[in-house]
Amino acid sequence: MSQKQLKRHDRSDIFIHWFNAVCWLLLLITGLALFSNPEIDPVGSGYPAFVRSLVGGGGNLLLIHVTLGFIWAGGLLLYIMINLKGALFFLKEVFVVSPARDIPWIIKKMVIMTVGPKPLGDNAKLPDQGYYNMGQKAFAQASVVGCIVIVVTGIIMFLSDRTLGAEATALVSWSVTLHYLAVGLVFAGLLVHIYMAAISPEERPGFLSMFTGHVPEGYAKHHHKIWYDKVKSDSGSES
Ligand code: HEM
Repeated sequence: MSQKQLKRHDRSDIFIHWFNAVCWLLLLITGLALFSNPEIDPVGSGYPAFVRSLVGGGGNLLLIHVTLGFIWAGGLLLYIMINLKGALFFLKEVFVVSPARDIPWIIKKMVIMTVGPKPLGDNAKLPDQGYYNMGQKAFAQASVVGCIVIVVTGIIMFLSDRTLGAEATALVSWSVTLHYLAVGLVFAGLLVHIYMAAISPEERPGFLSMFTGHVPEGYAKHHHKIWYDKVKSDSGSES
């Protein structure tokens, strides 16, 4: 018998998530090709030369990267303006941490994922989690902060040879460094995020919810018990 489904994501949330993912992919493809110093080029100098030859040179590549950046930041801003309630719900769920519950959760989860539950003995049960578990929260916190840094430093770099003068050299240099660091931080988290969300079989219902908007009740109860209990008590008090 098929299980009852619970609503997890709105259409606008699903749209902005995949819009964000596509923008990230295109920004990474074009950003990595912008390296022009073979000494620090992370993917080998053949890659930038190849992408530059595809788009007609470094000038066009920079223009494409910057345009994508503005489309990305503009899309996120538009989402916040259209669905402020959804954005605030997301930020609250992500940044409110309960140390007593969430720290043991993340430590135990890491132990279980690396060496299995045996070393934890009778203590292997994970503490209940809310709408997001602590792993999802940590990644989302890094993405929110990282994305703000990426957009702000990107705008400073964009303005560097337009309106900013020589007195802004230190600001621009720091922006370049912070831009790379923030991309690196979010990208490292992204590898784990994609593994947990799309490859790990345990999280398959969560992955499908990013298309359908719904998760089976059993999955919600097992992975997000506090959220599940709240949805149940809210629907109970409405009926
Ligand atoms: C192939 C790429 C991606 C896949 C398969 C993927 C998958 C998912 C899934 C299934 C969820 C829903 C989890 C749930 O609600 O139970 C989710 C949430 C989320 N995704 Fe992605 N995502 C991808 C790319 C990205 C990118 C590029 C970012 C941002 C840099 C991102 C940021 C987030 C955030 C902040 C959340 C909410 C917190 C979390 O669940 O970790 N995702 N993603």
